[in-house]
Amino acid sequence: MANATLSINDREYSFPVLVGTESEVGIDIGMLRKSTGAITLDPGYGNTGSCTSAITFIDGEKGILRYRGYPIEELAAKASFVEVMYLLVYGVLPTKEQLADFGYRLTQHTLLHEDMKKFYEGFPPSAQPMSVLSTMVASLSTYYSNTEEDTDLNIVRLLAKLKTIAAFSYKKSIGQPFIYPRNDLEFVEDFLHMMFAVPSEPYEVPSAIHEALDMLLILHADHEQNCSTSTVRMVGSSGADLYSAISSGVSALSGPLHGGANMAVIQMLEAIRLDGANYAKYVAKAKDKKDPFRLMGFGHRVYKNFDPRARLIKQACDRVLMQLNRTDPLLDIAKELEQVALKDDYFISRGLYPNLDFYSGIVYRAMGLPTSMFTVLFALGRLPGWIAHWKEMRDTGGRLHRPRQLYTGELIRAYAPAD
Ligand code: CMC
Repeated sequence: MANATLSINDREYSFPVLVGTESEVGIDIGMLRKSTGAITLDPGYGNTGSCTSAITFIDGEKGILRYRGYPIEELAAKASFVEVMYLLVYGVLPTKEQLADFGYRLTQHTLLHEDMKKFYEGFPPSAQPMSVLSTMVASLSTYYSNTEEDTDLNIVRLLAKLKTIAAFSYKKSIGQPFIYPRNDLEFVEDFLHMMFAVPSEPYEVPSAIHEALDMLLILHADHEQNCSTSTVRMVGSSGADLYSAISSGVSALSGPLHGGANMAVIQMLEAIRLDGANYAKYVAKAKDKKDPFRLMGFGHRVYKNFDPRARLIKQACDRVLMQLNRTDPLLDIAKELEQVALKDDYFISRGLYPNLDFYSGIVYRAMGLPTSMFTVLFALGRLPGWIAHWKEMRDTGGRLHRPRQLYTGELIRAYAPAD
């Protein structure tokens, strides 16, 4: 095994070098503090591996994303979201029988306890759907036992119920009655039905929308140790139950630098449209270091070349707009913005390319999905990834997550009340 050598004040320390299956190199500094008294400092964790994981592989330089070894392009083209859920959570693609059984189990747990409907009455109509989502997910832990034997049942329950919770929160926000899940519908179809059906009319889910959403959910399903997934692992490492850990993942996802970016992109494009579509002005603002404005939907901590998901979403975007015979002035602005940014040295030198969120908002708009629900859709897609990581952490006996810090505050001083 190779070693890495660290020299501190003329003393040398040796640490094992570990190599992942894709030849990624990690220096195991598990003994660093014990042997040297020092810690590492890596704000934002850009260089810190918090775990080993066999779920998802990303090569940000080459634009590669694979779930359990399968390229995202193949899964997006050939698999269903339900298959991908199974793949992420259980580690293998399901056989026909396993898929049928899993699909059946998902339909058996879609209902919310009737009492939980009362929670929705307590939220104001203006409630942020992501706040409702995390609250409702956390409250599931008050309804179900969290014993070890129930782990798999709770996983299936959560996968089945999140779409009901999400659709109910949308219905609540527009003042319409809840539409109950239907067991005869496929997973994504059922979600769209709960979102858009009204009691007085028959509703058939348009196949273009069904297919596009299925693929979008696949593209969102996992992304290794991102902010929300690390949060799920962090919370789960204390032994907190599945619902509590996932609820914190939902909260982490809601921020505009993470999943909330898909809403922020639309708000930004709308502002540019109202400002006479003067996209060059906004590119200049994004480059101005004195201006806090950033081009939402651009840049990624890991992808410094291109985001493979953005490529697929851009194609889906054109396809959906054509199938539904819709145009969108925001798409034209988005394409122009992308072209300007891709030729500009500021963006090229920093590796800032459109990310997953840049085009997903426009596809959702074309599908008639409301902007306020965009980040909820991200959560719906990311759920199997969060669960897979929570499960992997438990199955591999992960330690309590407890980072260190460099203290920069006052030295000891005597208590004296302020004047
Ligand atoms: N517009 C303008 N400048 C940017 C942008 C942007 N969107 N993103 C990064 N930069 C600049 C930044 O100012 C810095 O410049 P300098 O080196 O001169 O100081 C440089 O690029 C590196 O930025 P950073 O903030 O150190 O990069 P990071 O890896 O910490 O941040 C990011 C990644 C995604 C938070 C950031 O690119 C960003 O804020 N993007 C906009 C929000 C967004 O689209 N988020 C969704 C991310 S993808 C989906 C997900 O994973 O949730």
